[in-house]
Amino acid sequence: MNNFIYENATKVYFGKGGVKEYLASLMKKTGKTVMLAYGGGSVKKNGIYDEVTAILTTVGKTIVEFSGIMSNPTYAKVQEGARLARENSVDFILAVGGGSVIDCCKIVSAQAKLSGDIWELENEKKIYPADFIPMGAIVTASGTGSEMNAGAVITHEEKRIKGALFGAQARFAFLDPAYTMSVPFKQVLSGAFDTLSHAMETYFGKPDANNLSDDINEAVMRSVIRSIRVLLNDRENYEARSELMWASSMAENGILKIGKITDFQAHQIEHQLGAYTDCNHGAGLAVIHPVLYRHIYRDGAERFARFAKNVWGIDDRGDDEETALAGVEALADFVKEIGLPTSFSQMGISADTDLRAVADSTNVTAGCCKRLTHDEIYEILKECI
Ligand code: NZQ
Ligand code: ZN
Repeated sequence: MNNFIYENATKVYFGKGGVKEYLASLMKKTGKTVMLAYGGGSVKKNGIYDEVTAILTTVGKTIVEFSGIMSNPTYAKVQEGARLARENSVDFILAVGGGSVIDCCKIVSAQAKLSGDIWELENEKKIYPADFIPMGAIVTASGTGSEMNAGAVITHEEKRIKGALFGAQARFAFLDPAYTMSVPFKQVLSGAFDTLSHAMETYFGKPDANNLSDDINEAVMRSVIRSIRVLLNDRENYEARSELMWASSMAENGILKIGKITDFQAHQIEHQLGAYTDCNHGAGLAVIHPVLYRHIYRDGAERFARFAKNVWGIDDRGDDEETALAGVEALADFVKEIGLPTSFSQMGISADTDLRAVADSTNVTAGCCKRLTHDEIYEILKECI
């Protein structure tokens, strides 16, 4: 196993009723002015907003609302949040939402403390902020695992780049599976597929050796597949939603990545597709993964064969490439089975989208078993249409 240092700074409060039980005592330890950040309004419909504001009021907080954080949050929205935080001398940020709200808040938290521009600082100067407005997260939609890491994915509309930035990590995260009951089912599925994707993108990284991280990873993948299947027949199944919610954190809290260089080529492609189309993240991944894997499985045949056997229960065909391909097709069949899109057109992405530009602006990752060229990425994207 490669050397590693591991720490996770987020304290997790998992389960039904956690906010009611623990949020007040946690907030008593923060400063007076709290930025309450949320998305397009789902929290107002499902009662989470009322529950949280009542608790903040009870413990005497001044609430500064930062609302309207969109899916695939933009850099402009980050700047708006940072301005609001500075103008109101915000002491603590409470992110209430899915990955988009949490990601946006992570960067608001850093940008509010900086005089310069965080995009330029991180991407051009390769300097990463160390001073943050502390934050906490209440997760209302699972999938990204954003609540247990410091990474965020932000769309810079002018530059047409959807890319990673690093900011604050939530000090605490509430994971209440009951909160996910109101999430549109399509989003439940695309979020769960995002989790599966994170696990796969880590599993197919390097080195291709036996290690504990990959053994745990296989369990996470099997669990996600099983829980999605339970929900297909019983959408409100609390146990399955719990499993998916924790799997989501597990896939992105660093545990599976220990000792590994991750792949994340599918994510890089999807993010740039998102920069050009503002598409749904998990749905984009569902389309890209099988197509990408058909392009690369021969270069990682042994690992893909292990995936086929240990994750999809496929018998060894006596030839790694054959077994590997059966695993990729099992993944493709699963996408169909659960009703996620299998083409960009099914996602409503216009055939006129400049896929050449998407391909040319996609990062090529070092952890992928095959180092793709931009031409190959363009071919993959065209097959997805
Ligand atoms: O905005 P509201 O009205 O709240 O509605 C949201 C949104 O429309 C809705 N929703 C959330 N909780 C709900 C709910 N609706 C009803 N009831 C609830 N309890 O769900 C919709 C999607 O929310 P969003 O946060 O956009 O989805 P997700 O959690 O999938 O986050 C996607 C973003 O995370 C990034 C993606 O690229 C994308 O920008 N990612 C972040 C990662 C990270 N930080 O580690 C890793 C991922 O790979 C990913 O790239
Ligand atoms: Zn993802």
